[in-house]
Amino acid sequence: MQSFLHGRDLIGDLDFSKEEVETVLELAWDLKRKRALNEAHPYLRDRVLAMLFFFSSTRTRGSFEAGMAQLGGHGAFIESTTTQIAHGDTAKEIGEIYGRYFDGIAVRHCDWQIGNGYINEVARNSRVPVLNMQCDVYHPFQCLADLMTIMEKKGRDLRKKKIVVSWAYAASYLKPISVPQSLILQMPRFGMDVTLSYPKEFQLMPEIEQQAKDEAKRWGTAFDIVHDMDEGIKDADIVYAKSWGPLLTTADGKEGKVLQDSHKDWIMDGRRMNLAKSDAIYMHPLPADRNIEVTDEVIDGIHSVVYDEAENRLHTQKAVMALTMS
Ligand code: CP
Repeated sequence: MQSFLHGRDLIGDLDFSKEEVETVLELAWDLKRKRALNEAHPYLRDRVLAMLFFFSSTRTRGSFEAGMAQLGGHGAFIESTTTQIAHGDTAKEIGEIYGRYFDGIAVRHCDWQIGNGYINEVARNSRVPVLNMQCDVYHPFQCLADLMTIMEKKGRDLRKKKIVVSWAYAASYLKPISVPQSLILQMPRFGMDVTLSYPKEFQLMPEIEQQAKDEAKRWGTAFDIVHDMDEGIKDADIVYAKSWGPLLTTADGKEGKVLQDSHKDWIMDGRRMNLAKSDAIYMHPLPADRNIEVTDEVIDGIHSVVYDEAENRLHTQKAVMALTMS
């Protein structure tokens, strides 16, 4: 067990080794148990986390803020448009100055080809840990909660379990590609065979796909890319079907919407759920476009674990904050 994570950043999924992720999960289960028993666990008494948001959030804000309070500290919600960032405060200044006020800096910045660079620049100039609450490349805390949920439902030994990470249609907006990218990077280390499924225009960053292939090779697992939703879901143990934008094809919102609308048939419905194993689980990070991206029948059905998945955001984030900020 690698337990010394004091002062570390978590920006990309592979920043923590497999053993360090295992430490996070062990602590997350302990914290989940303590919360169930109403047992106090003030590991971060008097510590304050800056939570800087450039993009809206339901789960991430709620779980980080509640998590800091439950750990005996405080999460300071800072919406970027209420700051002087638009008037010139740079990422370097945020890192330098917030690093002196706070004990950790968490940032959500999903703008394509900007967010990850911004968070890394904050980290380079911060004396305290920097936590990525989602950028254009990674969503590492979502992925930790996903892994915890998969282990709760499928056991700790995930070798030979098939996870399909599938694109699905959505009408609301072009969603970031960070969730599928984080999943394909993290899951091979835990033994899962990964199938990535998307219409050809919705490829992920080539360097991330290559890194995922390299990880799969390193850990002796399978990694396949298909362009057919049914084929991807067939015989899966874990069905993770969600939408993302065609950002590698076009970053133009209007062009992207036209591409997206040409694949309305990529909906996660009951027929498709039946292509997976009979005891398969359905996962989605939320928010979902109901009856467009996934039918009510699936997201509210017996295979769905979306609420346990959302809950585990709280426990995994508390574990990382306690380990890095104590
Ligand atoms: N899954 C997730 O990150 O949700 P929010 O966008 O609501 O934070």
